[in-house]
Amino acid sequence: MKQAKSDSYPQRRVYVRRRSRTTVAQARALERLDEYLLSPGSIPDAFGRTAPCLVEIGFGNGTALAEFASANPDWNCVGVEVFRPGIGALINQCEQRDIENVRIVDGEGLTYLESLSDNSVDLIWVLFPDPWPKARHHKRRLVTREFAEVVAQKLKDEGQLTIATDWDPYAEDIEEALGDSQSFKGGMVKGTSDRITTKYEARGIRLGHDVSEFKYVKRAV
Ligand SMILES: C[S@@+](CC[C@H](N)C(=O)[O-])C[C@H]1O[C@@H](n2cnc3c(N)ncnc32)[C@H](O)[C@@H]1O
Repeated sequence: MKQAKSDSYPQRRVYVRRRSRTTVAQARALERLDEYLLSPGSIPDAFGRTAPCLVEIGFGNGTALAEFASANPDWNCVGVEVFRPGIGALINQCEQRDIENVRIVDGEGLTYLESLSDNSVDLIWVLFPDPWPKARHHKRRLVTREFAEVVAQKLKDEGQLTIATDWDPYAEDIEEALGDSQSFKGGMVKGTSDRITTKYEARGIRLGHDVSEFKYVKRAV
């Protein structure tokens, strides 16, 4: 299937940096982005197979996604990111580890989710989304009631949304946005996580922040 550039369709505004200094290895990897690039629409078409599907929004340097994809070759794994050096870093990990079940959306996460068929995704990850601590910037946060509504449409019944944050005030907003929704059951989870520690998580821990992780399951109707 021919892949179109995902930023060729109208997207929501993002307030984070897209471009920054890339390492030589990341720049070289970005030259091969077309091999990974996923356009809006059907995930099974893009992978050439029907399989359980993970979508991670804001994968950063992609270590958690690469680890999951490597451990679960029978899953279709989609990473959505706007930060070009991070995209290059994920491509490098896929190539170094012979990971073949990853595709990349070079674009805005909520816009991409909206492009998907309803009831089509098994698992969505949002790990350490930008906290936007200042009150005047809260409207820039990714996880909102609107986000919860779109996730509820796109997850399959019993599909799962995992969100983690090291910013307590954001954790409260996440609980409100998802907890108030009739579409989900679940909430904050305690204990060890089934994913690896991400770069931003490690940073938060170094700064002495508590990590809150939420798992919401879409109720079958
Ligand atoms: C704080 S970092 C966390 C990265 C990674 N998940 C981690 O835990 O190390 C948030 C990431 O989300 C990306 N991001 C922010 N808003 C986004 C959006 N609307 N769509 C896609 N990516 C987004 C940023 O570029 C950044 O890489």
